[in-house]
Amino acid sequence: MVKVTVCGAAGGIGQPLSLLLKQSDLITHLSLYDIVNTPGVAADLSHINTKSKVTGHVGAAQLEEAIKDSAIVVIPAGVPRKPGMTRDDLFKINAGIVRDLAVAAAKFAPKAFMCIISNPVNSTVPIVTEVFKQFNVYDPKRPVGDKDRVRDLQSLLLDRIFGVTTLDIVRASTFVSDLIGAEASTLRIPVVGGHSGVTILPLLSQVAGTDKLTKEQIEQVTHRIQFGGDEVVKAKDGAGSATLSMAFAGARFALNVLEASVKGTSNIVECTYVHLDADQAGAKETKSVVGDKVEYFSVPVELGPNGVQKILPIGQINDYEKGLFAAAVPELTGNISKGSAFITEGA
Ligand code: NAI
Repeated sequence: MVKVTVCGAAGGIGQPLSLLLKQSDLITHLSLYDIVNTPGVAADLSHINTKSKVTGHVGAAQLEEAIKDSAIVVIPAGVPRKPGMTRDDLFKINAGIVRDLAVAAAKFAPKAFMCIISNPVNSTVPIVTEVFKQFNVYDPKRPVGDKDRVRDLQSLLLDRIFGVTTLDIVRASTFVSDLIGAEASTLRIPVVGGHSGVTILPLLSQVAGTDKLTKEQIEQVTHRIQFGGDEVVKAKDGAGSATLSMAFAGARFALNVLEASVKGTSNIVECTYVHLDADQAGAKETKSVVGDKVEYFSVPVELGPNGVQKILPIGQINDYEKGLFAAAVPELTGNISKGSAFITEGA
């Protein structure tokens, strides 16, 4: 039994994301939660002749049954950006929504992989982590001695909480393939850092074929990847932000987590915004570049049965990219502190 819950399932991202998940044979129960309209979305999707059963749940009173025993909880709940708003402007509304959903997950699905889409991801992931810490959620079956318990508890919690930055990678592949004439669907571009504006760090120097590009082209496409979301917000002219491309990216990420955990497929690597676990060599290497204060970062992660199998090194970066890292760190650390403090200090 593999239950996947989408929280915010009636929304612009939630509906197409649920449709894409409905196509997967890895899911046996697709549970749709929102504060509005999920019975309709669930009835509609339930007529599709694929494996999963679909249920709809509306409002806080039905959150427990929606989320209980989920293998994955995907969260695209909250308000999207309007023109002129940054992702950080969303913080005040979305922080509380994500906190409440994290509390429900900690209580009723403590072993779930948490895929956080709601913005600002740089802050909402620390919010989920701090909630899980407060609820002391851990796997009691893990044979750990008292001394190791704290370390083990922390790693278990943190290894399962992912900020979904896949849209940055999807956009990077599309935009760069146009320039270098590669096949977009196979072009994998590491995009690390955070998930807003200058905190998004595409590592173009690691991609074959980008050496043909001029300095101006590199700068322009880097800026386009960092601010690609703005193109959609502007074009939608007040009707929201990216939904369809985000649904594609969110489904790819969630299904890869399932491939690695349920099917046990190895060597699946995705860049995702995670806690930089101090014991992981790849995390240490990242911290040596960005500094110890950066607790969360999007890094290439090898997915496995328990979530983060291995944090991989970010690899060589050139001088231009070093400059981008320097510009990203102050904003990112601010976003992280803001998210953590929202739970630890009620701020
Ligand atoms: P939307 O407004 O179309 O849908 C959001 C849904 O969340 C609505 O159906 C709403 O009823 C629901 N909702 C509100 N409060 C809720 C609660 N307490 N519990 C459950 N559901 C609740 O917004 P859209 O466009 O789907 O965006 C959702 C979020 O995803 C936004 O925060 C947006 O900024 C973010 N986003 C993230 C991206 C990423 O790359 N990670 C890309 C694009 C958007």
